[in-house]
Amino acid sequence: MTQRTLVLLKPDAVRRGLVGEVIGRIERKAGWAITALEMRSLDRALLEQHYGEHVGRPFYEPLVEFMSSGPVVALVVEGERVIEGVRQLAGPTDPIAAAPGSIRGDFGTIVRENLIHASDSEESAERELKLFFPGLV
Ligand code: TYD
Ligand code: MG
Repeated sequence: MTQRTLVLLKPDAVRRGLVGEVIGRIERKAGWAITALEMRSLDRALLEQHYGEHVGRPFYEPLVEFMSSGPVVALVVEGERVIEGVRQLAGPTDPIAAAPGSIRGDFGTIVRENLIHASDSEESAERELKLFFPGLV
C-alpha cells in the first residue's frame, strides 16, 4: 500500500541542528522516498488551516507562536504504509511518553516542542499535502 504523507521538521528541530538526523531516519526506511523538500517560514493563516482541529484549545496560541518562531522543513515522503510508519518513527505527542528510539523519545521533553509533525490519516495527508505543496500532482 503506497502512500504519501506530509512531514514537518518543526522550528526546534531546525534550531537544534537535528534536520539531518531526522531526515536520515526517514531515508533509511526500506522503500520510502522523499519526493519534495522545502525550508520555509509559516504564517498564522497557513497554521490556522493546518491546525484547524485545534483552534480554540488552550495550547493553540502558544503552538502557533512556536510554529512561526523560525523556519520549518516541509517534506513529502512516499512509500509503503508511510502514514502510520512516520507516526511510529515520531512517537506519541508527549515526548516524555515517547519510547527511546523514537524521534520524540530520543530528542524531546516539551510537548509543544516535539520536533516533528506527520499526517495522522489518509484524509489528513491529502488535506495537508495540498496545503503545503499545492503544485503536487
Ligand atoms: P496533536 O495533533 O494532538 O499531536 P500530533 O502532533 O502528535 O498529531 O497536537 C498538535 C501539536 O500541538 C502537538 O504536536 C504539540 C501541540 N500540543 C501541545 O502543545 N499541547 C497539547 O496538550 C497537545 C495535545 C498538543
Ligand atoms: Mg495531529
